[in-house]
Amino acid sequence: MRSTHLFNHDWLFIPQKVAGNMPDSAFERVILPHTNKLVPHRNFDDADYQFISTYRKHFTLPEPLNGRRLLLDFDGAMMGTTVTLNGHTFPEHKGGYVPFSFDITDYVQENGDNLLEVSLDSTERPDIPPFGFMVDYLAFGGIYRDVHLRYVAPCYIEKTRIRTHDVLTAHAYAEVDVWIKNTTDIPHKVYISAEFDGEWDAEFASSTELVIPAKSLMKRTLTLPKGTFDLWSMDNPVLYTCVVDLGVEAPNTPMVLVDQIRTRFGFREAQFRADGFFLNGERVKLRGLNRHQTYPYIGAAASARLQQKDADIVKYELGCNIVRTSHYPQSTYFLNRCDEIGLLVFEEIPGWQHIGDDAWKLVAKNDLRVMIERDWNHPSIIIWGVRINESQDDHDFYCDTNTLARELDNTRPTGGVRYLSDSEFLEDVYTMNDFSNGIIEPTYSPWLVTEFNGHMYPTKSYDGEERKIEHAMRHVKVQNLAGANEKVSGAIGWCAFDYNTHVQFGAGDRICYHGVMDIFRLPKYAAHFYASQISPAVRVVLQACSSWQPGDISEGLLNAIWVFSNCEQVTAYVGDEKIGTFSPDTQKFPHLPHPPFNIDGLGVMVARPNGDLRLEGLIGGQIVATQRISTDTLPKKLTITPDDTELTADGIDMTRVVIQIEDTFGNPLPFATYAVAFEVHGEATLYGENPLVLMGGQGAVYVRSKQTAGTVKLVAKADKFTADCVITLK
Ligand code: GAL
Repeated sequence: MRSTHLFNHDWLFIPQKVAGNMPDSAFERVILPHTNKLVPHRNFDDADYQFISTYRKHFTLPEPLNGRRLLLDFDGAMMGTTVTLNGHTFPEHKGGYVPFSFDITDYVQENGDNLLEVSLDSTERPDIPPFGFMVDYLAFGGIYRDVHLRYVAPCYIEKTRIRTHDVLTAHAYAEVDVWIKNTTDIPHKVYISAEFDGEWDAEFASSTELVIPAKSLMKRTLTLPKGTFDLWSMDNPVLYTCVVDLGVEAPNTPMVLVDQIRTRFGFREAQFRADGFFLNGERVKLRGLNRHQTYPYIGAAASARLQQKDADIVKYELGCNIVRTSHYPQSTYFLNRCDEIGLLVFEEIPGWQHIGDDAWKLVAKNDLRVMIERDWNHPSIIIWGVRINESQDDHDFYCDTNTLARELDNTRPTGGVRYLSDSEFLEDVYTMNDFSNGIIEPTYSPWLVTEFNGHMYPTKSYDGEERKIEHAMRHVKVQNLAGANEKVSGAIGWCAFDYNTHVQFGAGDRICYHGVMDIFRLPKYAAHFYASQISPAVRVVLQACSSWQPGDISEGLLNAIWVFSNCEQVTAYVGDEKIGTFSPDTQKFPHLPHPPFNIDGLGVMVARPNGDLRLEGLIGGQIVATQRISTDTLPKKLTITPDDTELTADGIDMTRVVIQIEDTFGNPLPFATYAVAFEVHGEATLYGENPLVLMGGQGAVYVRSKQTAGTVKLVAKADKFTADCVITLK
């Protein structure tokens, strides 16, 4: 039978190419996911991590082969990977964003020590997408995703694909495509069965028998009849598991079970039409943000928990219903979480504006094939991006990518992200980066806006008040216009989080400040707008788009403020004086689920000594939320808050720890640029600058467990303030 072992521990690493016999003592001991270079969160050179490094691992087999094949699976390594096992070198894998495997059976020592060496080229190789031109993001180096050892039978299930059909009708059914690989020199008679596990009561399982010729791969499709099931939806993302069994008839033996694969999937119908996007027959206006997979300090080497957290942030803190994995396939931990929480996904191939030569295009097509084969069972994914983001037309190349995507998965449409409204439309959905600070009238259908704002209005969390407000209001404006136009399926803004970038982009400190959140995933005002679009049944949101300081507003006038809230009404007080009860501005923004509130008539109130602002959010006449902002903005408190207070003591697990300097009422003070120094007591690694200078009154570091259980205490000190938190490692 199949068995899989996580292969992340006990690697040796050296940041150079190794020629000859370099002793182990020259290496550093590391655990994956691993970045080849820890960096500050800004002001570093991408040349710092662009080098060839060597990973080495000594191992004995965790279990005997017993006649099985042994595969070495990499979930992702940046960016050219050459693997050598016991002196045998496999062909280089090119590409940093999709998984790849090696069959190491014939080179492994069953009973002795094995030496695995990985030469990893993390330079920006022009022969590998996205490189060859400029790129507005960084491809950090390292074996930055998991590695596994996988034992499989000589005849095994290579992959499964579950396609559901007519899910809104009484004749709903599912097709289970199963690929069986026979690695042996003789034909095999096999038996395949598929059934649904979990809560779906299919009346029958389905099975078939066939003979697989020697050294071949065969596909069979089993149809599973209708049962009763719940649809996967954004509010109720019900998932099921399909169990596929493989039996093999060996000479003189009865059929024996040799393999089993469990595949998670969902029943849902997602359609882009001329008049919008429909999920399970209901129109949904897509409202989302783009996400890069990179983090401060650790590049892309973020463990499962951080990946899952990003999906949660996009869904619950930013109220989005869709995320685009700009500009490459992202971690399966992220995608699995999107399935679990009901967050729709636009996934696309690696690339940025540039198309290389034929060999480069072959790598891109391989990326496309592997991305779709890896991810076709995620109900959250509703469209494949089959163009290099914002590239020029290339008829033959894009005919090929569209054909390939449709052959691999005829259940999802293709899109191809461009910034031209009249480029060749070979895809199923015209996916357009619209930087007009409006919504241009669709020239094709269906039509989806895949980026807006971004470089048109970069904004830092420590920018002046008016810029942050304008930044937020641009997102409000475009989302409202997208809501107004039936031909527009929705709008995915640029972008969720600030990100590190190359010298040609960003603010000069190697950050693109295009996020509605900063690089630590902490909110700017624009984030509060997105948050306020969430249903109040999920979370009540009430946030002033103001720091309540007339002194920071041109001419010192602060008569009106915008408030982002999903409450029905907001009552505003200055000090003890009630200013009024306000309704959302449905006149100006009629096409948003929850338009912002324009709270005016504030006049000179704020100049009073006791002029604190108090907002009360009302639903059904009841106060359900309150926000207060002090006029006294001297720092009152330092807070240190881990996202998780319990981590697994496996040397892999990580969590973010947020530091904030606050006013009396817990609002961050954007200009309190304290340097915060940290102490770590216990068995954990701190990733981050130490001291860390807060930006916009906030910042974050990351804590990674070591392999010893216990408690870790983190102490933060800034000026006269001290704060601490405890994380338990189990
Ligand atoms: C787009 C591009 C994105 C990002 C953005 C900034 O043209 O697709 O990757 O660079 O501009 O606004």
